[in-house]
Amino acid sequence: MMDGRKFTFIFGFSILPLLCFSASFVPQDNYLIDCGAASNTSFGGRNFTADAFYKDLLSTKRDVLATTSSKSIASSADSPLYQTARIFNEQSKYKFSINQKGRHWIRLYFYPFQYQNIDMSTANFSVTAQNNVLLSDFAVQKNPVMKEYSVNVTSDNLVITFTPSKNSIAFVNAIEVVSLPDELIADDASSLNPPGSFTGLVTLAFETVWRINMGGPSISPANDTLRRTWVPDQNFLVTPNLATNVTNMAAVTYADGGPTENIAPRSVYGTATEMNSSSDPRSNFNVTWQFDVDPGFQYLVRLHFCDIVSKSLNELYFNVYVNSYMADKDMDLSVSSNNVLGAPFYKDFVTGPTDGKKIRVSVGPSSLNRDYPNAILNGLEIMKMSNSKGSLSVATAVIGTGSSSKNKVAIIVGVVVGTLCAMVLAGFFFVFCRRKRLRRQGLSKTWVPISINDGISHTMGSKYSNGTTLSAASNLGYRIPFVAVQEATNNFDESWVIGIGGFGKVYKGELNDGTKVAVKRGNPRSQQGLAEFRTEIEMLSQFRHRHLVSLIGYCDEKNEMILIYEYMENGTLKSHLYGSGLPSLSWKERMEICIGSARGLHYLHTGYAKAVIHRDVKSANILLDENLMAKVADFGLSKTGPEIDQTHVSTAVKGSFGYLDPEYFRRQQLTEKSDVYSFGVVLFEVLCARPVIDPSLPREMVNLAEWAMKWQKKGQLEQIIDPTLAGKIRPDSLRKFGETAEKCLADFGVDRPSMGDVLWNLEYALQLQEAVVQGDPEENSTNMIGELSPQINNFNHDASVSVAQFEASTTDDLSGVSMSTVFSQLVKSEGR
Ligand SMILES: *[C@@H]1O[C@H](CO)[C@@H](O)[C@H](O)[C@H]1NC(C)=O
Ligand SMILES: *[C@@H]1O[C@H](CO)[C@@H](O)[C@H](O)[C@H]1NC(C)=O
Ligand SMILES: *[C@@H]1O[C@H](CO)[C@@H](O)[C@H](O)[C@H]1NC(C)=O
Ligand SMILES: *[C@@H]1O[C@H](CO)[C@@H](O)[C@H](O)[C@H]1NC(C)=O
Ligand SMILES: *[C@@H]1O[C@H](CO)[C@@H](O)[C@H](O)[C@H]1NC(C)=O
Ligand SMILES: *[C@@H]1O[C@H](CO)[C@@H](O)[C@H](O)[C@H]1NC(C)=O
Ligand SMILES: *[C@@H]1O[C@H](CO)[C@@H](O)[C@H](O)[C@H]1NC(C)=O
Ligand SMILES: *[C@@H]1O[C@H](CO)[C@@H](O)[C@H](O)[C@H]1NC(C)=O
Repeated sequence: MMDGRKFTFIFGFSILPLLCFSASFVPQDNYLIDCGAASNTSFGGRNFTADAFYKDLLSTKRDVLATTSSKSIASSADSPLYQTARIFNEQSKYKFSINQKGRHWIRLYFYPFQYQNIDMSTANFSVTAQNNVLLSDFAVQKNPVMKEYSVNVTSDNLVITFTPSKNSIAFVNAIEVVSLPDELIADDASSLNPPGSFTGLVTLAFETVWRINMGGPSISPANDTLRRTWVPDQNFLVTPNLATNVTNMAAVTYADGGPTENIAPRSVYGTATEMNSSSDPRSNFNVTWQFDVDPGFQYLVRLHFCDIVSKSLNELYFNVYVNSYMADKDMDLSVSSNNVLGAPFYKDFVTGPTDGKKIRVSVGPSSLNRDYPNAILNGLEIMKMSNSKGSLSVATAVIGTGSSSKNKVAIIVGVVVGTLCAMVLAGFFFVFCRRKRLRRQGLSKTWVPISINDGISHTMGSKYSNGTTLSAASNLGYRIPFVAVQEATNNFDESWVIGIGGFGKVYKGELNDGTKVAVKRGNPRSQQGLAEFRTEIEMLSQFRHRHLVSLIGYCDEKNEMILIYEYMENGTLKSHLYGSGLPSLSWKERMEICIGSARGLHYLHTGYAKAVIHRDVKSANILLDENLMAKVADFGLSKTGPEIDQTHVSTAVKGSFGYLDPEYFRRQQLTEKSDVYSFGVVLFEVLCARPVIDPSLPREMVNLAEWAMKWQKKGQLEQIIDPTLAGKIRPDSLRKFGETAEKCLADFGVDRPSMGDVLWNLEYALQLQEAVVQGDPEENSTNMIGELSPQINNFNHDASVSVAQFEASTTDDLSGVSMSTVFSQLVKSEGR
């Protein structure tokens, strides 16, 4: 496959996002022809060969080699190519032998000049390639032009034919025929008019009409792996005052499975145009660009996105319009980019055949983003698509051909019928697409039976569901009727939304017996949705633990994907650390939260025959109940056992940026130690109360894991702790905590402690804080993780003490396994 897919990843640098290189593309066919030249031309790092040096390339009866010394082209970057031309009096062909079939650039350079008695500006001719008409009745009046096409070459030779119109001549200054990576144009795209999907793009020829770098400067071919030119968007903004530039190159993270630099370079994804909300951060408007196009063609509109503005995932939602069609509603770049913040993403749309002379593209805030509406666009390409005759030529455009009155009738009929049909069609397409997606996921409507113990699990851990039944719901066990869910959420009242995640929205709800619940409603657009929905039900119906969020039920009626959980009064751990203005937690509260979540993870790793790897451990997935007891949530990405990934080595790296295990990233091999790594990041997050990735900070501080490790290694962790904790952490406790986090972040999984060891060390750190432990803490804290002072060993060998302290009621642990497992871990670690 493509070299560009490969990663180079070096851990330990402060510019993590910059370190994913993709090798530049090496074209199999690379013809650079300087037409009419007597010698080869080298410029801009490339060698154009004089067409005279290619044997059998050109077949022509009469041609003229023309040269000019005109100064008017000196300003053009390609000026050396424009100094010579070949002039044809009759049909003439260039024949290129093709090493590798597939998509190729065809770039044609034209500059008309006066040569002896020939005035090339009077030339009028057509150009065809393969079965495509690239140009017809074409004339270039004055300035140099370069026309760029991409054609899927399907035979061993590509013939480009120049045919002068009657009594005229044809000419060309230079030609490029260069292979393109297959990934560049996929076969399908979303169709805007009619709505649905468009397939068959691979067979078409395209002409590049516009290629725009939003919010940034021009990008020259030298800075693009496929030698494309990108121009700034300023001149296309309908209301420039409503938009503003944003640049953040370091945030761009080319991720596995996503676009490579061949799709668009970093300098495109690293700049964007966003809403100018400087006068009112809550104002609601669209940013709109407008482009002239030739009417009578369909266009492939490619929108490039990369969330370089958010501090964390799931902050940015916006709508995208193309020609006033809603192209993408509530677009969530976190979902589109597989939950890697700053991962590039693009989306293709095909316009209708009769959409006029302008293409308008707008982005505007989604109603989901009430507080800080924003919308961005990083890049845009508009490509004209060859029509049913294989033509890209304006002269062959099918507009107003035939009787115009017939067209008018058709339009009127169309409006009437169209209005009637639009809804029916839209509905049809919607259902059709959903069906198709469901089928693709390999899931029929019947659910895989899920082993359910006895349906009483919802009574655990939450005082709301304490001993009560679920009324209507409980009759059906876990499966809850849709009407009950509607009722519980006030018919999915938007004002009851308490969170938005990769999967969809989360509503607060109340069952009719008063049980408070959190209702997570799957977003039908979410590609991963169904698989994650299933995983989560399977995981949660097997795992019951007071430190794992419990599932009360689910609903899969009407293709819905709804999960109903116990309600966690105090929200996410993250919200208590920063960004929400909640009062800050004490050190003891934080330690207990860390211990609780470590316990939940430890149970996942060991409490079941097969280890379960959470894969998305982060502070936003640790929830707090009314007593600030921590529970681990969001099992959508979980997988059992490391062996799964050995058979699916190509599994895309999932998880959240800033928490990702570098070893998993490098080797794509998943083990429980990846969770340990992420948990180590959470520990530093808890200590420092700042986002794990904060691009607004100086470079060496952007990545919390690296920043904190730097200070930890210097032994000065206290320099960067949350100021509200200053002076409140006992040095020994801090030292133990820091060492534990440091061990979790070891480069290699084998060097990291198990979750059981982590749990154990955190408990020790808490003991040190509370000064329960006698003796010399200095000595203890320099011990290896897992090694314990005699006092601590004694303390913990008394299992009942430990259990009583942290598992107030072990009966809540349905598993009954977890504590003994913890204990055996502790005993085991002692012997190391
Ligand atoms: C261009 O040709 C020169 C010699 O004529 C050679 O040294 C150089 O490597 C060539 N450049 C490329 C990009 O092929
Ligand atoms: C021009 O380039 C072609 C192909 O790269 C080469 O075969 C030819 O020898 C070169 N001619 C001169 C005069 O350098
Ligand atoms: C080229 O010639 C054709 C007739 O052969 C004519 O219809 C057309 O207008 C000419 N195009 C230009 C741009 O002059
Ligand atoms: C080129 O077209 C053929 C069908 O004509 C298709 O099978 C192939 O995938 C296309 N190649 C690319 C790179 O689009
Ligand atoms: C935005 O960037 C472009 C290209 O760098 C520049 O021409 C333009 O002046 C910038 N606009 C603002 C408002 O900074
Ligand atoms: C473009 O490439 C040149 C060198 O080829 C480099 O100096 C320049 O910084 C690059 N510009 C951008 C925006 O990447
Ligand atoms: C943003 O809007 C403010 C107020 O309307 C205006 O003063 C400012 O010039 C705008 N900024 C840009 C970059 O257009
Ligand atoms: C944004 O543009 C779309 C399409 O033109 C329109 O429907 C929508 O109302 C606009 N939104 C705002 C806030 O102006």
